Amino acid sequence: MTDAAVPPILPSAETDEDRVLNLSLRPGTLGEFIGQRELVENLQVAIQAAQGRGEPLEHTLFSGPPGLGKTTLAHILARETGAKITATSGPAIERAGDLIGILTNLEAGDILFIDEIHRLSKVVEEFLYPAMENSQIDFIIDKGPYAKTIKFTLKRFTLIGATTRSGLLSAPLRSRFGMLFHLNFYAPEDLVQILTRSAAILAVALEPDAALEIARRSRGTPRIANRLLRRVRDYAAVKADGRITLPLAQQALAAQGIDPLGLDDVDRKVLRTVFETYRGGPVGIEALAATINEEADTITDVIEPYLLKAGLLRRTPRGRETTLAAAQHLRGVVSPNRRAGDLFAEPA
Ligand SMILES: Nc1ncnc2c1ncn2[C@@H]1O[C@H](COP(=O)(O)OP(=O)(O)OP(=O)(O)O)[C@@H](O)[C@H]1O
Ligand SMILES: [Mg+2]
Repeated sequence: MTDAAVPPILPSAETDEDRVLNLSLRPGTLGEFIGQRELVENLQVAIQAAQGRGEPLEHTLFSGPPGLGKTTLAHILARETGAKITATSGPAIERAGDLIGILTNLEAGDILFIDEIHRLSKVVEEFLYPAMENSQIDFIIDKGPYAKTIKFTLKRFTLIGATTRSGLLSAPLRSRFGMLFHLNFYAPEDLVQILTRSAAILAVALEPDAALEIARRSRGTPRIANRLLRRVRDYAAVKADGRITLPLAQQALAAQGIDPLGLDDVDRKVLRTVFETYRGGPVGIEALAATINEEADTITDVIEPYLLKAGLLRRTPRGRETTLAAAQHLRGVVSPNRRAGDLFAEPA
């Protein structure tokens, strides 16, 4: 049973509840940051090297699906280097003028964090180039024939950008980052550690097999893991004695419409639409978006990355296709030697 009043758990938009709780659950240092080992080691080296030279960190870009820790890493870098961090986002900076005040207020070594940096306008982006390159900005005062360009030298700061779509970043902007890191989905073992840590902070009793169950259904995403943990915690408090056991976690997740693969109603709707309405695809992203009444960007940035990673959806030049695994998941398990096409012949 799915409670219609419960909004679907999209990893995209942070809810207000997330925002408050994420602050307390957010790891504060690289040492506390779980998973993404290679990335963490590279960052450790970069921090040490920069500190050894007495220089600010190089401009750094984090890319990857929502909820994997890009914002967390930006704050950790600030803390590890003792820098002050100013956070803003691509859509929030409408004109280059919005950046002048921010940039001129930065001290040497400070961090400017721009979330959703792929959504900066072209003009703002071009204004950033010299700032990133040699700490200079040009601004134009007055208009028309009296317009004058003034050069202003900034203190050497570090720009940290985060994006869910590194592909949308222009080549000139991308090339001005000294370090580029891609965050991957987390392995269930990493998510178990994250959940165990979060449970301790939230003071809930979480049994190890229950933690693994929640981890497996979290779509490789810490933000979703923490969110599911809170839902299961509420369920345990109301329906049992508050202790999160495996059967209780399974019940609570099923009640939220989260299936054993961790898919929710929206994920299944996408798969089912490709599978049934478009007979397995290929279907173009715009047509798919229109059919299920979602934004194409939401499908591309938020819903589809995990479906691709889980091998349920495939991207082809002609559009999205469901895989045999998706067909099996939607129809219940069938014999593995049956081909996807055969499934259409079966009664629903
Ligand atoms: N490696 C990690 N270890 C422990 N907790 C983590 C880790 N990564 C993320 N989290 C948790 O997940 C939450 C979401 O992380 P964060 O807000 O940094 O994601 P994000 O990648 O910036 O997502 P978005 O792209 O949507 O902004 C954090 O509040 C934190 O509690
Ligand atoms: Mg973020």
